[in-house]
Amino acid sequence: MNRAVFLYVGVLLTVLLSFTGLVSIPEKQLGGLQPLVDADGTQYPVPPTGMVAEGRGVYIADGCIYCHSQQVRPEGFGDDIERGWGTRRTVARDHIYDSPPLLGTMRTGPDLANIAVRQPSENWHLLHLYNPRITSPGSNMPAFPFLFRKVPVEVQVPHDALSFPPGWEVPGYSVVPSRRAKALVAYLKSLDHSHPVPEVPQ
Ligand code: HEC
Repeated sequence: MNRAVFLYVGVLLTVLLSFTGLVSIPEKQLGGLQPLVDADGTQYPVPPTGMVAEGRGVYIADGCIYCHSQQVRPEGFGDDIERGWGTRRTVARDHIYDSPPLLGTMRTGPDLANIAVRQPSENWHLLHLYNPRITSPGSNMPAFPFLFRKVPVEVQVPHDALSFPPGWEVPGYSVVPSRRAKALVAYLKSLDHSHPVPEVPQ
């Protein structure tokens, strides 16, 4: 009988301690985080809206997270900053509007926390998604051609057709990004976590 009481108290304590450590304390430390507002009224971070929010959905649906992280580790914990993936480490505030957070766990490809800073060209991103080998020779990233449609040139050459570097053109066709491709690139071009934050003194 006494043992049953011990067991009961033990289970109760385990649940209580886990809840305190995993839910209550983190909520107390991070739950009240607010965006920063600069003297000129600029807010950081901003919630994803419009095409950016739509592109975030495409990023999730197409499994980009299985190969890409969005978190820059602090100096001393890896070479992320030396590799040019960011100028400072990632802090919790960077992700207050990122729900669910797309931090990622795998790094088959480079970290994308600051891809907008590193690669601002829309055409580069579209070509890279259509076929990564066009922009990054030898790349082993999968191609996402289903985000584009091919239109025979005798029918139409749409104004937003991709402009290929010599040798990569698709004979007889123009390749046109779908709305999903454009939204995904809008999302990639919003990934800029270089804004200074008080958590990381410069
Ligand atoms: C199977 C793994 C894999 C998946 C899935 C994947 N990638 Fe990649 N990605 C890579 C690799 C490897 C590279 C490095 C070679 C290159 O630039 O193509 C890369 C590079 C990139 C780069 C350039 C990064 C830089 O620093 O130049 C971007 C942007 C990117 N991927 C976006 C995406 C997006 C968006 C998706 C989802 C639609 C995606 N990736 C899915 C493996 C992957």
